[in-house]
Amino acid sequence: MTNKDIAGIKPIKLPAPRFEGSCTVFEALKKRSTSRTIGNKKISRQMLSDILWAAAGINRQAGPFGVPGLTAGSASNSQEICVYAAMAEGTYLYEPHGHKLLPVLTGDYRVPAIGPGQGTVGASAPVRLIYVVDIEKFKNAGFQEPGLYNAEIQKSYYFVDTGLAAQNVYLAAAALGLASWFHNCNKPEIEKVLKLKPNQRALFGQTIGYSED
Ligand SMILES: Cc1cc2nc3c(=O)[nH]c(=O)nc-3n(C[C@H](O)[C@H](O)[C@H](O)COP(=O)(O)O)c2cc1C
Repeated sequence: MTNKDIAGIKPIKLPAPRFEGSCTVFEALKKRSTSRTIGNKKISRQMLSDILWAAAGINRQAGPFGVPGLTAGSASNSQEICVYAAMAEGTYLYEPHGHKLLPVLTGDYRVPAIGPGQGTVGASAPVRLIYVVDIEKFKNAGFQEPGLYNAEIQKSYYFVDTGLAAQNVYLAAAALGLASWFHNCNKPEIEKVLKLKPNQRALFGQTIGYSED
């Protein structure tokens, strides 16, 4: 992934997270729910920043095992979950270091970010996050233990770690008055279009926007 433009889409330096107008975590817990009726109204760059920071942002420089800590925990702080954002103009990779979006793909890939058989519902929502695991990152985890190299245990780690990030996003969206929806994604299609490496796997999607209810 690069910091360079890709066929017309540029890296996006996100504003620092601000959580303006947000409620407390307990109020957000009361409001959290899945909404499948998300319209096409755009969310602000600030809200996008807040949502991505909630998913996988750096919340402390001095984190576990000598690397910065993220808003969502991960097994041995391996930080193996990569968050992509599919939007109308293209798909980006969220880079926590520098809090920015790196262009990956021009064009609209919001449809494969929903699971097969689920049609195009929500496909015009402004942002669809795609959670991808990079299994290679377990090799660099700060605390090395055998589970990091066992396929079944790896699976348990990356599914839990995705869930932690996704719940952060649910709560951040609720706190900002946005709707969100965690869902499956078309894994083979996403892996093809994002040109994922064999050690990377598409796991889930999460749609964000304004509810039409
Ligand atoms: C692992 C997982 C996979 C999910 N996959 C889908 C999905 O593919 N499509 C969908 O519409 N909802 C999906 N959901 C959302 C659940 O249906 C939803 O969270 C559940 O009905 C409870 O509703 P609530 O989130 O409003 O409490 C998924 C949720 C989880 C945790």
